[in-house]
Amino acid sequence: MLYGNEALDELGILDGINEVIATTESRDRINAAPLGIVRDGDSLYIRLFLGTHTYENILTKGWFVANVTHDAWLFAETALEDLPPEYFTRREDLPLLKEAEAWVLFKCDAFASDIIIAKVEPVKGEVLRKDFRACNRGANLVIEAAVAATRYLALRTDSYFEELMKTQRIINRCGGPREREAMDRLMERIDSFSHVR
Ligand SMILES: Cc1cc2nc3c(=O)[nH]c(=O)nc-3n(C[C@H](O)[C@H](O)[C@H](O)COP(=O)(O)O)c2cc1C
Repeated sequence: MLYGNEALDELGILDGINEVIATTESRDRINAAPLGIVRDGDSLYIRLFLGTHTYENILTKGWFVANVTHDAWLFAETALEDLPPEYFTRREDLPLLKEAEAWVLFKCDAFASDIIIAKVEPVKGEVLRKDFRACNRGANLVIEAAVAATRYLALRTDSYFEELMKTQRIINRCGGPREREAMDRLMERIDSFSHVR
């Protein structure tokens, strides 16, 4: 087990915005959603927008687990949907993604407002496996597409939809089957949510 700020580099949380999947819990239900942790040396903070499960759970419980993974498919999936229980496991009684390469428990004293900007502190974490691969433009773009999809659904701005269409062309060219599937599922959800809302 690794503890505190000095372990952050080893746990994969570096300077800049670290895109992780936050697992949180409310009444024994585990939630997973992408979250950016901003690090500048020893200073770390998150920005949470009102209206998500992650916002509610962090506000209520005062902690979240950052799951470090570079599986873009998981970012796309958790951005718009809940994951079924078989995707989760527990360590030290904390909810984690089975596929996490590392996890870090952060504590966070947040107070309610439209947007929470809160300092966070690493408590403990663990590297579960070290995975490496060549950069894939398709995988990076799936994460961009997941961001654009959440913004498109919240704001309905045409420019986000255009970005998604452009991104899909590049993912189809540069990504593998998992990235193409992630993008197809994002577009299907956008289509179905657009009809519902
Ligand atoms: C890569 C990525 C990073 C994100 N970062 C944040 C963030 O830092 N803060 C936030 O409030 N939402 C962020 N989002 C959007 C949430 O993940 C999204 O609103 C999600 O639907 C929340 O799900 P939940 O209701 O299960 O918590 C991000 C989305 C993506 C794809």
